[in-house]
Amino acid sequence: MGSGAAAADPPLVIEGIRKRFGENEVLGGVSLTLRRGELLAVLGGNGCGKSTLLRCAVRLLDPDAGSARLCGQDLAALRGRSLRMARREAAVVFQQIALVKQRSALENVCCGALAQMSLGRSLSTTAFPTEVRDRAAMALQRVGMLDKAWQRAGTLSGGQAQRVAIARAYCQQATVILADEPVSALDPRAAEEVMELLADLAHSDGLAVLAVLHQPELALRHADRVLGMRLGAFAFDKRPDEVAPEEIEALYVHLHEAA
Ligand SMILES: Nc1ncnc2c1ncn2[C@@H]1O[C@H](COP(=O)(O)OP(=O)(O)OP(=O)(O)O)[C@@H](O)[C@H]1O
Ligand SMILES: [Mg+2]
Repeated sequence: MGSGAAAADPPLVIEGIRKRFGENEVLGGVSLTLRRGELLAVLGGNGCGKSTLLRCAVRLLDPDAGSARLCGQDLAALRGRSLRMARREAAVVFQQIALVKQRSALENVCCGALAQMSLGRSLSTTAFPTEVRDRAAMALQRVGMLDKAWQRAGTLSGGQAQRVAIARAYCQQATVILADEPVSALDPRAAEEVMELLADLAHSDGLAVLAVLHQPELALRHADRVLGMRLGAFAFDKRPDEVAPEEIEALYVHLHEAA
């Protein structure tokens, strides 16, 4: 947990978020609370607003209405350095794994520890402080990648690179991990392992983890809660054992089929 987090505040509270792009209302006033120690999977068809929701949650995108509170802090009320500091409570893992290819796995993870630095500055730092390296090595160990610490990130397999990206998020010591399609590029075995890792970060480390997935079976097997999204609204928000197969199917019915 980051130092600024008040233990009583839920890690992420989204209330009534609306977002439109031109005529296209992408989020129609959605609310959710993400708790410590839980893995929440978000399912929904292409274009239903999952990535937009994730971006609004950490204010990489400004919603038109509604609020996002990260560890009790309303991001809309913050600017500049205080916004950057508050945002550190959330680490974002994208589908396109953004590792610096020519740098080692360890150096990439060190950049997570230095999230308050701009990427340019952290990359120009030739020697990371010992304390940062130690923390990065621990993070690599946590995701089972310590033996690849010195391998250049560009030569890692997709599954290995995704683990390093998660190690970097872990090293940031955030309270919340938001992962946008973290397993879409992975083979079934690697996808399974990365989901186990995300669940373990929630259950053993007490992090609050939200993962956008396109694999309902992985969501049902690994998540503590499953959120179904359709057309910018939440269709359901339930425990996996409460979700009926028809509810999953309905998420992926295209508009022209439903008409
Ligand atoms: N910056 C933008 N400008 C205009 N439209 C946008 C912008 N970002 C997203 N959209 C639109 O908003 C809708 C939701 O996009 P979003 O990326 O949130 O979908 P998604 O649920 O993540 O889909 P996918 O499963 O394909 O990743 C889409 O119709 C998309 O075209
Ligand atoms: Mg998306």
